[in-house]
Amino acid sequence: MDYKVIKKDISKLKVKPNLFDYEEVYKNFKWEDVAKNFEGLPNGGLNIAHEAIDKHANGPLADKTALIWIGKNSQREEYTYKDIKRESNKFANILKDLGFEKGERIFMYSPRVPYLYITAIGIFKNRCVMSPLFAQFGPEPVAQRMVSGNAKGLITTKHLYEKKILQIIDQLKELKYIFLIDVDEDINDKVLSLPKLMKNASEEFEIPPTDPEDMSLLHFTSGTTGKPKGVIHVHKAIYTHWVTGFYVLDFHEDDIFWCTADPGWVTGTSYSIISPWLHGITNVVYEGEFDAQKWLEILQNEKVTIWYTAPTAIRRFIRYGIEPKKEYDLSNLRHALSVGEPLNPEGVIWGVEKLGIPIHDTWWQTETGGIMIANYPSMDIKAGSMGKPIPGVEANIFIRDDNSIKEAKTEESGNLMLKKGWPSMMRGYLHMEEKYQKSFVDEWYDSEDIAYKDEDGYFWFVGRNKDIIKTSGHMVGTYEVESALMEHPAVAEVGVIGKPDPIAGEIVKAFVALKKGYEPSKNLEKELIALGRKKLGAAIAPKEIEFIDSLPKTRSGKIMRRLLKAKELGLPLGDTSTLEK
Ligand code: WT7
Repeated sequence: MDYKVIKKDISKLKVKPNLFDYEEVYKNFKWEDVAKNFEGLPNGGLNIAHEAIDKHANGPLADKTALIWIGKNSQREEYTYKDIKRESNKFANILKDLGFEKGERIFMYSPRVPYLYITAIGIFKNRCVMSPLFAQFGPEPVAQRMVSGNAKGLITTKHLYEKKILQIIDQLKELKYIFLIDVDEDINDKVLSLPKLMKNASEEFEIPPTDPEDMSLLHFTSGTTGKPKGVIHVHKAIYTHWVTGFYVLDFHEDDIFWCTADPGWVTGTSYSIISPWLHGITNVVYEGEFDAQKWLEILQNEKVTIWYTAPTAIRRFIRYGIEPKKEYDLSNLRHALSVGEPLNPEGVIWGVEKLGIPIHDTWWQTETGGIMIANYPSMDIKAGSMGKPIPGVEANIFIRDDNSIKEAKTEESGNLMLKKGWPSMMRGYLHMEEKYQKSFVDEWYDSEDIAYKDEDGYFWFVGRNKDIIKTSGHMVGTYEVESALMEHPAVAEVGVIGKPDPIAGEIVKAFVALKKGYEPSKNLEKELIALGRKKLGAAIAPKEIEFIDSLPKTRSGKIMRRLLKAKELGLPLGDTSTLEK
């Protein structure tokens, strides 16, 4: 395998990284030692809201900016830790006074406005469970998730209530109250004005004793391969959020952090709410959708120091030929990361050349609750690799045969599995106990991703188990083929599938979207096939290329290969609720 190594010279980094010597820290790490970073509740137990907000609001960070909110029309608001404490106390009181109890699910169906972040903390305080949905969902996926999650409360806007919720309201049998964030008066005795309630709510709230194992969040997985599942997380997950904030995101006290993810996706709760606030740093939220110039303006004007984004965003910068460093002053930016999909070597290198710093790939899942495998500021990057497991997490590659597993050899592809027991591990799939049990073999959780480990202990993504292509006896990972084609200067995005073939079983077919300024042609098709053959060999190289304007993607930016395949075969498209429209 040929790859580029991005060498790290620690003496050249702007600040000394928290993780100085990976091997050393990994060897000596103990989860119990993380407890000293938490205060605990005065009456016992551990609650996310106390550690993320109240602890800081009660101490020297009270007047520090916790949230910088930038609206889609460029409005700008700042909230201190004290502000968030006071406002979330009010919402916790509202829930308590209306009879909401421990464990009850409150759904969020709202754009990224300050209320979303404030009520999230209020929900944790009252020991209810937050379940976030993308505001762009239509009524069907909302109904499906709210029914399956036994929704007792809903926070939303007047518009979404009228246009989406009213038509499914009959299905929401357990729903007690709807809170509208943008009306001044109640609609009826169940559909209430949140601003009005907030005006009258008490600012004092004592968090009741919370067991670290109490449920805190219910996330529905993005469903690139099937029906969404409700993933259960608990308060204790903050151990992982603290550790990854410290070692991977490299939070230092003066950092200004921007995670571009929506809380409808676990990245937007773990890293756009919980992790930065556990560390008492300033968190930036932008309400609007992707817009290259606007995003770069935010990085520049807010003096963002750490940026956590996704490959889909990086690919868009590449596609439009944008050169951030040339056009903007990004001198404050010292660390950049991505998650959600493989970050092709092109993405890492683009960072070095056009942004001034490499993009650090991180790997995890809704089920893992937090980052599990990562590239670190102090560690050399092998461009295209996911990096190494975080301290406290044991990862390995196994060949799984139903209920038995065998360790794979170095560089042999197999199931990427994690040793059970890290604090943010999911505690169940809601109402799907059997499915949950099947995710484990012995002491190992099976991510259902295919990957391999090289001789230096770096992990390399191959593909989602279900996306793996079997062609003439070879197992082909989508990632490898996609990365090879991405090297062509005309290519902006690639999605690869296995197309049934009577002789080969499957052949590799690539769907290609081109960069601005390039046109599809027979010649280009030939060039791409030739590039594939050169890089991958004839057995694995794509045999068919189809040019399309853009690839179908989930709201979190994942290429939906399942849809490409269904379209190719003329099959029903299945669940498309998370499809980006
Ligand atoms: C799947 C998880 C990512 C956290 C948010 C929720 C894919 C994720 C990477 C990466 C290659 C990646 C995997 C994984 N994925 N990160 N760095 N390289 N693939 O994620 O919606 O639960 O999806 O995303 O296939 O299993 P999710």
